[in-house]
Amino acid sequence: MRNLLTAPRNQHRGVMSSAAAYGRIIARPVDIFANASSQLSPSVLPPVMNIRTASQSDLPDIARIQSECYSDHFVESQESFAAKLAANSDFSFIAEQGNAAVGYVFALPWLFGDVPALNGHQYSIPPNADSLYIHDIAVGRSARQGGLAKRLLHAVLDAARSAGFAQVFLVAVQGASSYWQRHGFEAVPIDDHLRRRLAAYGADATYMTRRTVVP
Ligand SMILES: CC(C)(COP(=O)(O)OP(=O)(O)OC[C@H]1O[C@@H](n2cnc3c(N)ncnc32)[C@H](O)[C@@H]1OP(=O)(O)O)[C@@H](O)C(=O)NCCC(=O)NCCS
Repeated sequence: MRNLLTAPRNQHRGVMSSAAAYGRIIARPVDIFANASSQLSPSVLPPVMNIRTASQSDLPDIARIQSECYSDHFVESQESFAAKLAANSDFSFIAEQGNAAVGYVFALPWLFGDVPALNGHQYSIPPNADSLYIHDIAVGRSARQGGLAKRLLHAVLDAARSAGFAQVFLVAVQGASSYWQRHGFEAVPIDDHLRRRLAAYGADATYMTRRTVVP
């Protein structure tokens, strides 16, 4: 079954402070097991996964998933997630198994070469944002190893392309840089300014980027 995002492609480049700027991104349910399911009897059908846009009502679930996924140092408050959604909610998604949220991705338009504050309580999208910053992808333990993070990544990449962003970037933490390498991200050298900005992200923080369209 095809993905999910129906915003017009490449209408605008740069900051997308409002969904109205390029048409609302609409996340539709996706059955990631569609092909496999057709070969299984109903009694062994795997659970259906949906990916949809995140909203403020998801904050308690996001907090629960986050606490399963990160050491205390990286845990952000619900206020911080609320502030990110208030700044821009067009690139953040929830993965559901049945009616339960089991994973999420948060992303914001930002300037490549910089990084938003960790656990900030107010975010302003830079007016000259040139890239999409993937702040956080997390999948609860019970839902791992099924390609869900990859699905969330591709939801973000589709949304980024639709908004006209040619590049996404992230800060790999908790030793996850090899995961991102497998998905086309490369580490980039950082200057002193960025090194200072990354201090809060831990000693192994790795600044990584990839194109949204791979030739
Ligand atoms: C990283 C994470 C999002 C992956 O979720 P997932 O849905 O299980 O990922 P996928 O199913 O797409 O991929 C699974 C593969 O990635 C590997 N993988 C998972 N976490 C990894 C990590 N931290 N580093 C390297 N590889 C990792 C798995 O071993 C598996 O490999 P395999 O296919 O060879 O068996 C999930 O483990 C998680 O939420 N971790 C805690 C939060 C985190 O570290 N987020 C990233 C911060 S930059």
